[in-house]
Amino acid sequence: MPWLSERNRMWRERAREVAEKVVRPLARKYDVEQVYPWEIKEALAAAGLMGVWIPKEYGGAGDGILDLCICIEELSRACGGVGVLYCVNALGSFPILVGATEEQKKKYLPRVASGKSLIAFCLSEKFAGSDAGSLRAQAVQDGDYYILNGEKKWTTNGGAADLYSVYAVTDANSRSRRISAFMVEKGTPGFGFAKTEDKMGIRCVPVVETTFENCRVHKSQLLGGEPGMGFKNAMETLDLARPGVAAQGVGVAQGALEYAQVYSARREQFGQPINSFQMIQQMLADMATQTEAARQLVYAAAHAADTKTGPTGKLAAMCKFFATDTAMKVTTDAVQIFGGYGFMRDYPIEKYMRDAKITQIYEGTNQVQRMVVARHLVKETAALSKLLDAYIPREVQQGFNDPETLAQNKPEAAKA
Ligand code: CAA
Repeated sequence: MPWLSERNRMWRERAREVAEKVVRPLARKYDVEQVYPWEIKEALAAAGLMGVWIPKEYGGAGDGILDLCICIEELSRACGGVGVLYCVNALGSFPILVGATEEQKKKYLPRVASGKSLIAFCLSEKFAGSDAGSLRAQAVQDGDYYILNGEKKWTTNGGAADLYSVYAVTDANSRSRRISAFMVEKGTPGFGFAKTEDKMGIRCVPVVETTFENCRVHKSQLLGGEPGMGFKNAMETLDLARPGVAAQGVGVAQGALEYAQVYSARREQFGQPINSFQMIQQMLADMATQTEAARQLVYAAAHAADTKTGPTGKLAAMCKFFATDTAMKVTTDAVQIFGGYGFMRDYPIEKYMRDAKITQIYEGTNQVQRMVVARHLVKETAALSKLLDAYIPREVQQGFNDPETLAQNKPEAAKA
């Protein structure tokens, strides 16, 4: 990709080295065992990957979302689970980057950047998934402390992480200032872990329920120092994090495509390699083109986030659903190309399909992403309307509620 910088390429090479030397050989082991791969995490930290997106003044490399996405892509190409194991630390730390005080940034970010502490993001609850604003966990102020009660669901990295960005209700009567964000450390009395999920994919990274029972956190752990900013903080965090999940989708798709390329070159049927058949060629061509299109959109969204140009939230949502739908399609087609072998656990390809599925669900379902994009489109319509006014048929503007129709159908209502 000609427009990628030297720095972008450097991160790709570094991540690829870890992916090929450490991640790929261990992917199956941790998929089977479903335990946290500490040796992989150590390799990521040793390569400096844990601080790619964190500014230099807080111990990171000071590079961007695009660099982060490239690293996620390379790791996911070898193992989708390791892709999220890595990028969930960015998700957990963005609430600090977008909304914490200087003191809080200095306190928490260097621990993440060095890889000494893993971090997780606690937003979703049993009854608050897509409707994130309806969460119920509560934080009640008591002098210099907040007392947290409630439970969180689907905390990725839960148990392995030392730090948790936790969202809780601080003002139940407010509409837009209802929620606040806190940094909670593992080991705080009253903060615990309940169920560890048994998952279809991304099995090397734990996804758990977290519980808060009269858990006292000091007011200095309220992110930003001001209550009520939590929902905005979560939305800004997700705008930054979604290109990362999209990059996971690109990496998983690329990895599956490569397996399909090699397998279809070796597998012979009817006396020739199956990649000589046009139906297989068409599948490979579509898989490669869809993966490349997804990659370009992810990089465009990441570049917009880094340079603060363009509609970052809209692009983040677009690339998230496009790249992860692509991952699902490409991995399913790769299994198809592998035929009977593809369905068996003996070979790595079925894992790609299992790992792809969750990318369409977490960090906002792909239905929510389309809703976000559609909301942007509706907002943009006012400006477009002026431009296109003369070219839009008049008839469509005369619906049931226009004055003329009202006067005809309901003269009394029209007068009122
Ligand atoms: N940036 C800043 N502010 C934003 C914003 C954004 N992108 N989006 C919304 N807001 C603000 C609005 O301006 C509004 O502010 P005011 O009240 O001051 O006017 C407020 O937030 C409420 O906005 P909406 O009315 O648009 O909110 P909504 O209730 O309709 O929800 C939603 C919008 C997009 C559906 C949101 O709830 C959402 O993103 N849901 C999906 C949640 C999600 O992604 N969860 C993922 C959990 S993390 C995870 O999965 C991680 C993992 O395991 C790896």
